[in-house]
Parts: sequence; structure tokens; C-alpha cells
Amino acid sequence: MATKAVSVLITGANRGLGLEMVKQLVEASRDVRKLFACCRDPDGPRAEALQTLAKKHPDVIAVVRLDATDLCSIKQCAQQVGSVVGTGGLNLLINNAAVAVRTTMQETTPEELQHMFSTNVMGPMNIIKEFLPHLRAAAKASGTPGMSSCKAAIVNISSILGSIEGAKESYATYPCFSYRVSKAALNMLTLCASEELKKDEILLSVLHPGWVRTDMGGEEGEIDATESVRGLLGVMASLTEKQNGGFLDWKGRSIPW
Ligand SMILES: NC(=O)c1ccc[n+]([C@@H]2O[C@H](COP(=O)([O-])OP(=O)(O)OC[C@H]3O[C@@H](n4cnc5c(N)ncnc54)[C@H](OP(=O)(O)O)[C@@H]3O)[C@@H](O)[C@H]2O)c1
Repeated sequence: MATKAVSVLITGANRGLGLEMVKQLVEASRDVRKLFACCRDPDGPRAEALQTLAKKHPDVIAVVRLDATDLCSIKQCAQQVGSVVGTGGLNLLINNAAVAVRTTMQETTPEELQHMFSTNVMGPMNIIKEFLPHLRAAAKASGTPGMSSCKAAIVNISSILGSIEGAKESYATYPCFSYRVSKAALNMLTLCASEELKKDEILLSVLHPGWVRTDMGGEEGEIDATESVRGLLGVMASLTEKQNGGFLDWKGRSIPW
């Protein structure tokens, strides 16, 4: 069993790491009672694998439309989730959806940077704000002191490429300018939000999944999605207030900002 959370929401759940998280959570954990697997086009061909999985676990998985760049869809999704979880709230929100491109600063257009920010930064911010009532409800309903992912937590999936300290060493090999800038912003967003929300006992952490063989990571990735997600879910299950506002990798190792 990877996590003790009872209700979980994952964005970008139709492929890559998001889909693998849904798989492992539903197949390995009996404690996940409700899993909101969000994607931008639930009825389209890109969601077929997720829909097949959802059919196998109809009581647990709910496939819900959410486009991280569309505030209306985020609000509608939050309403749908609220009507299911009620006063029990949402225990764990995983902001996983993202886009990446491998261009340098000189190749980057304003439109590209804007697209990165809309998806990778404004998306998570809007999602956090819209789901906050459900996370607060979960923290209140838990009745236990402290912080954990089975009480009320937000995990933002970022990247080591968003580490400002690491950029000098890795930039020449992996430029990904706009992606790096957006993930560094996501990291700051998480840190600021963790300060704002600690009084509500809502935990926030940033996790780096490793270099993973997905559409984004490519075939040269160092690990597969199964290994990465096994690690990520283990780290999520172990989070306490000590890791609030922390930046960790899939093995639980601290990453410099
Ligand atoms: N793979 C790696 O090596 C690696 C390394 C470091 C960090 N990460 C991070 O890990 C997370 C998952 O990456 P991945 O490797 O699984 O990527 P992926 O295979 O490219 O999958 C990305 C997911 O995000 C979704 N998405 C993109 N734009 C969206 C939007 N506007 N609204 C909703 N969903 C959207 C995609 O949905 P569609 O099918 O609709 O496009 C897809 O489900 C990301 O945050 C990424 O930055 C990955």
C-alpha cells in the first residue's frame, strides 16, 4: 500500500506518470476510496487507457474533465468533486499535468512561455484555489493534529530542471528554457502557498519524479513510470509537517531550490 489518503485527485491522469499513479493507487491500495482521475478530454482517444481502467474500478475511479488552462473546467471539476466528497473533503490533490519543450532562451517565443505558464503555473494555482474548500474540509474532518497526505495535502509535481541552484550545471545539456522557468515558478508558488496554508494544516510539497520514460521524458529516461510512481507514492505517504514547503525527489531526497 502506497498511501493512506482516502480521496485523491490527479491531473493529467490519462497518460504518463498520471495514469501510472491511478493504476498503482487503485491496484495496490485499499484505502483509496475515491480517485478523481482528471484529463482534458475524457471521451477522446487519448483517454482510452484511463477509461478502461476506470471501468474495472467503477466504485473508486471517477474520470473528470479538467483542462489546467481553462478556469471554467477547473471550477466545474471542483463542483463535481465537492458533490461527491461532501464534508469529508479531498485529502490529496496531485498537480501532475504539465507541458514541456526543449528550446533555448533565444529560440523561445513569448507565446511559448505564456503557454508554459498557463499550464504549469497558473493551472496549479487556479486548481489549488478552487479545491481549497475541499482540502480545508478534509483537514477539519480528520480530527487529528499535524499534517499528512491522508489528512489534507497538495503535491505539485515539478522537476529538478526547476532548481535554480542546479541550472548552471545542467543547462547546456538540457536547455528547456521555458519549462525550467515555469517549474521554478511552480516551486516558488508551492513554497508561498505552504506558508499561507499551514494554519489550515494543509501540507504542500514539490516532488521531482526522476527522469522517466514517458512521452515527456523520452526513451532515454533513466527509470520507467512504474518505478518512479512507486517511489513518488511512497514519498507522499511519508510526508509530515517536516516536509511542508519541501522539494524532494522520488526517493525522498531533498533537492536544492
Ligand atoms: N517524464 C519525466 O522525465 C519528468 C521529469 C521531471 C518532471 N516531470 C513532471 O512529471 C509530470 C508528468 O509528466 P509525464 O512525464 O507524465 O508527461 P506526459 O507523459 O507528457 O503527460 C503529461 C500529462 O499532462 C496532461 N496535460 C498537458 N496539458 C494539460 C492541460 N492543459 N490540462 C490538463 N492536462 C494537461 C497531458 O494530457 P493530454 O494527453 O491531454 O496532452 C498528460 O496527461 C509533469 O508535471 C512533468 O513536468 C516529468
